Amino acid sequence: MCGIIGYVGKSDRALNIVIDGLKALEYRGYDSAGIAFIKNNKTQIIKEKGKIKNLENKINFNLKTNLGIGHTRWATHGEPNLKNSHPHKVGKITLVHNGIIENYEELKEILKNYNYKFISDTDTEVACALIDKLYQEKNDLVKVLSKVSNLIKGSYAFGIICDDELDTIYATRKDSPLIVAIDDQDYYIASDIPAILKYTNKYMLLDDYDIVKMSHNNITIYNNKLEIEKKKNYTFSGNIEAAEKNGYEHFMLKEINEQSTVIKETMFPYLDDGINGLIDKMPDFSKYNEFDIVSCGSAYHTGLVAKTLIENYTNIPVNVEIASEYRYKKLFFNKKKLIILVSQSGETADTLASLRIAKEHNMDTLAIVNVVGSSIAREANEVLYIKAGCEIAVATTKAYLAQIAMFALIALKIGISRQTIDENELNEITQDIRRLPLLIDEILKNDYKNLAKKIFKQNDIFFIGRGIDYAVAMEGSLKLKEISYIHSEAYAAGELKHGTISLIKDKTPVIAIVTDMNIAPKTISNIREVKARGANVILLTTIKLDDNYDFINYKIVVPSIHPIIQSILTVIPLQLLAYEVAKLRNCDIDKPRNLAKSVTVE
Ligand code: M6R
Repeated sequence: MCGIIGYVGKSDRALNIVIDGLKALEYRGYDSAGIAFIKNNKTQIIKEKGKIKNLENKINFNLKTNLGIGHTRWATHGEPNLKNSHPHKVGKITLVHNGIIENYEELKEILKNYNYKFISDTDTEVACALIDKLYQEKNDLVKVLSKVSNLIKGSYAFGIICDDELDTIYATRKDSPLIVAIDDQDYYIASDIPAILKYTNKYMLLDDYDIVKMSHNNITIYNNKLEIEKKKNYTFSGNIEAAEKNGYEHFMLKEINEQSTVIKETMFPYLDDGINGLIDKMPDFSKYNEFDIVSCGSAYHTGLVAKTLIENYTNIPVNVEIASEYRYKKLFFNKKKLIILVSQSGETADTLASLRIAKEHNMDTLAIVNVVGSSIAREANEVLYIKAGCEIAVATTKAYLAQIAMFALIALKIGISRQTIDENELNEITQDIRRLPLLIDEILKNDYKNLAKKIFKQNDIFFIGRGIDYAVAMEGSLKLKEISYIHSEAYAAGELKHGTISLIKDKTPVIAIVTDMNIAPKTISNIREVKARGANVILLTTIKLDDNYDFINYKIVVPSIHPIIQSILTVIPLQLLAYEVAKLRNCDIDKPRNLAKSVTVE
């Protein structure tokens, strides 16, 4: 989604600072970019369609200026063209915005009565006019911004320059992320940490309705018109390399290769002090007899894996829900149910809204989140952080893996407490967890280029599996389609013949996943069915294949490990295969078209 950066301070290289920030926010997804800065005591705006490079070509970087705001736009209202790009300027107000103003049409009609004319199709221009109108009445932007929050429905993070205060940036937020950073007398606002990392790793998180006023040598943060004395300071513990490619061609490949470390950092601290350590470090789940896991995209797929783990190892029933559905459906709450929200970014609008609904009903909530201090992490009753580190590629890999790891630990903790996992099995599992990083690195040594070459020109690729393998198939299919743009579907292997098998024709690739030995023979029968219709079958399995499997066109064997953590290994070849296929198709792997890393609008 849109990215915001703003700088005011000692340096007269604000243009470079803002462009650096925008580049670091590219991963969020965008289709145009723009900046506003001060030149000859006036606000200047430059914007351009497409990549930041196009914008850079229009900027004279010799110009010295101490203040600038910048924006990458991911189109919501109106096409991705020049007139809809940010910053927008109405009257004295120049505005960049991330979020969606839901009542903008209504506000637009009101503002037209005050002779405001609109040139773009955006909700942002309406917000800009509204701020300008109120500013004419009140002449004080702090008061204006606190009033705006009562008039606007929807979500926003705003960065603002006012023509009457050209040495000052104002900012505020509601339901869209925004951080503030202070380094000596340099002040920044940004949608996310990578945008400021080149300059500082110290930052503060803004709460909803906070208003920031920052000028050359001063910053004040208000809430409810009152000055906030202190805000908690955070230090980003990774270094700038965490937000750089480190020699890898793409962030996605770098992040796939970080997965053994991610597993060590996410899982090992819970095992260091034996069973008691695991029990103490995990929340107490003893009062719950049902879970709702609520999330979106890959985090929803994590939930599907988690359902199998928790149900099989603890006997607690689990409902897995897509957050955008959950927030509008009839919900059945009871005090013995725990609502678990899963999100890498911790800012996904639908997941956040679901969390708030659960809290309105006084339900206990647990967040499984990667980004420290994100909205979901802050608002849930309890949070378990996965330790995936900074994930830049839009397609998640290491965060998905770490989420599964966290659910395996949760299943383990509950299984021990409920005695559904005995000591022998626990020992076997902990030994296998310790082997995971090595096994992951072994899988990462494999080359999937040849297989990718066989399938990258196909129009449709199917994934099948049963049980937990079906959940992994869904993630494999999403990974492939989101970065390679090949149409792909994942099917429960037994369901294929109820319709979709009619799409299988000569050479259609079908990637079948078979790691669950209890139902392997059933999936094998389904594989034979698609084979009989001409499919090109790629089997991803833990089974050592013998001659009986001569109907398989291509096989990928992953090491067999305890089922509670098997999916952690199974998914890796699918991530790498998707990557290689997308590369052969010359796709923009880290920033696939139309997608955003953090989906902060509904
Ligand atoms: O930040 P979140 O985990 O809440 O994001 C959820 C989805 O938007 C995300 O997993 C998305 O599906 C990824 N692009 C998948 O690779």
